[in-house]
Amino acid sequence: MASRILQKIFTAPTNGRSYSSGLRKVTLIPGDGIGPEISAAVQKIFAAANVPIEWESVDVTPVRGPDGRFGIPQAAIDSVNKNKIGLKGPLMTPVGKGHRSLNLALRKEFNLYANVRPCRSLEGYKTLYDNVDVVTIRENTEGEYSGIEHEIVDGVVQSIKLITEEASSRVAEFAFQYAQDNGRKKVTVVHKANIMRMSDGLFLRCAREMSKKYPNVKFEEKYLDTVCLNMVQDPNKYDVLVMPNLYGDILSDMCAGLVGGLGLTPSGNIGLNGALFESVHGTAPDIAGKDLANPTALLLSAVMMLKHMELSDHAAKIKQACFATIKEAKYLTGDLGGKAKCSEFTNEICAKL
Ligand code: NAI
Repeated sequence: MASRILQKIFTAPTNGRSYSSGLRKVTLIPGDGIGPEISAAVQKIFAAANVPIEWESVDVTPVRGPDGRFGIPQAAIDSVNKNKIGLKGPLMTPVGKGHRSLNLALRKEFNLYANVRPCRSLEGYKTLYDNVDVVTIRENTEGEYSGIEHEIVDGVVQSIKLITEEASSRVAEFAFQYAQDNGRKKVTVVHKANIMRMSDGLFLRCAREMSKKYPNVKFEEKYLDTVCLNMVQDPNKYDVLVMPNLYGDILSDMCAGLVGGLGLTPSGNIGLNGALFESVHGTAPDIAGKDLANPTALLLSAVMMLKHMELSDHAAKIKQACFATIKEAKYLTGDLGGKAKCSEFTNEICAKL
């Protein structure tokens, strides 16, 4: 099963074609709040770097389907299915009512089962630790986020944590393969199998089994609480971490905090039917429309996307220009302690290209 899954992951987005030949279409979901501003910044930087891609912008404002429920418009689904690759800005999720999270819907629709977040210290931007370099890999399709909730009687609700062997094994396989491909030394599986013996127990067993196929990658098992404690005391203890959905959601934000916050952290959602790259922050309604947002997280997500598309030279060039702008600290946005507008920061990166 393992090799079949990997073959699908690494061949599906290309459709058998080479990424580096000709102009490739990429679906762009600008999103809500600051989404359109930071998406425009990325498009401008990509144009300055002559990246050989063509954006296909789609709107994912929920539409009512034949069953009366709101969901992603068909045109957006068709675009990702066709292009197999996309860049996504943040999407607003109403709390407690209205449509379900579109982020969850997109992950489900395209079976984006592995969420990958590299968290690396940025040279020139001072944080508590100087040399953080960890990658969190989060199972993205089940766990507590399966959306299976019901009310048993008035005042008593139940939420099901769903863990399957198939999803656990494929994300474990992704983590080991990622470690191997990226010259990483160790994979840590993060769990609470001492308490949730069946669900986390199954996740842990799948990771253990998978580790046997990757003898060159060191494997360790750690409780979630221990990892949180260690991570804030000495992040160098860890390398690649793989974990169920909810733990990954929380731990990956904590790691983002160690390298300077959500405005800097990129992510990729890799699946069987395509890959979607997105910034990890939300729509930042407090600064939306004011030209104050930091586009770095979306830009670095777009850089991850370029690497995935085997456009590594363009990826390296853009990353370098972005890091140099941050290091110089002349045009930093407010979240990084500066006074620059999003457009000024963007123009400086373009000038460096
Ligand atoms: P948020 O990430 O939007 O904002 C938290 C704080 O970080 C705010 O002060 C905001 O101004 C700041 N911030 C976030 N991104 C920034 C950037 N690029 N540059 C500068 N400052 C930035 O989180 P919040 O307020 O909890 O969520 C707002 C909305 O976003 C909600 O509807 C939520 O559901 C949605 N959301 C969507 C996500 C996604 O689409 N992946 C992820 C997280 C939240």
